[in-house]
Amino acid sequence: MGHVFVTRTIPGRGVEILQAAGHTVDVWPGDLPPPRAALERALSAADGALTMVTDRLDRDLLAGAPRLRVVSNMAVGYDNVDPAVAAKLGIWLTNTPGVLAETTADMAFALLLAAARKVNESERDTRAGGWKTWSPTGYLGQDVFGATLGIIGMGEIGTAVARRARGFSMRILYHNRKRRPEIEEELGVEYAGMDELLAAADFVSVHVPLTPETRQLIGHVEFGQMRPQAIFVNTARGTVIDQDALVEALRSKTIGGAALDVTDPEPLPIEHPLYSLPNVLITPHIASASHATRARMAEMAARNIVAVLAGEVPPNAVNKPFKARGQAASAEG
Ligand code: DGY
Repeated sequence: MGHVFVTRTIPGRGVEILQAAGHTVDVWPGDLPPPRAALERALSAADGALTMVTDRLDRDLLAGAPRLRVVSNMAVGYDNVDPAVAAKLGIWLTNTPGVLAETTADMAFALLLAAARKVNESERDTRAGGWKTWSPTGYLGQDVFGATLGIIGMGEIGTAVARRARGFSMRILYHNRKRRPEIEEELGVEYAGMDELLAAADFVSVHVPLTPETRQLIGHVEFGQMRPQAIFVNTARGTVIDQDALVEALRSKTIGGAALDVTDPEPLPIEHPLYSLPNVLITPHIASASHATRARMAEMAARNIVAVLAGEVPPNAVNKPFKARGQAASAEG
């Protein structure tokens, strides 16, 4: 039976599932991610690793883990591990698709609504004693109902956001690598080129994975194309945008506001200029953070490890090792 390193305390039955399959489980006890040296040490003796988006597993770390057969990321995104590098070393990489789209879409919509209606600004002022009277001109925001939403990336999460937007009678434009006629038909969303979407949307919400193609997808040019009142929502990854360009766009009122669950870097240092701007709402990468969803993610991540250590193809593989460790060649070279 194997030895599994879990890089943080996880919710739900994840550890139980690993133990029930006969594996020894070591859970990193800290609230912060294990430092590189600790990760290196733990991985050098592990057959499986259950990791978070905060654990950067580069080639050197993976190469220094001779027994490692699977890295199971408790996230749908896996930009913290290069799938091709892992595959070359004979290591499976898995993720947790399908279970967090609705929860993440809830958060994207919460951010959109909060930014549109100045929930954070007004709440902050209220707590500080700033509620003097009902004001006919105070905290005027934007209507969400009937506005135009631009969704960049129409995968599972983008689609779940579109479903919510329909309930607000929004016009929904989307941009995606591939057109999605079935979603257009089901939800009445309209495909648009990036330029057209940015120019028309009152709200722009990003739902693309971080890849070399999407890194800094939204920069000076794109913010410049948005409407002056546009609110930009990011629950994807911080580096999908050029953050300096965002600061500039907010300062110069090129756009109306931003609501960010992800930043570059994470955590965003407290002296960062984004914190000093009133028209920005920042949350600490919590879009998938509901009790039920995080438990499902942990359990799914555990099952992926159990499968690999039993010599099976894991249910949620994002790569295919050239020759998986600990078993006969399972794939093409
Ligand atoms: C993911 O799953 O990729 C999120 O960013 C963490 O929930």
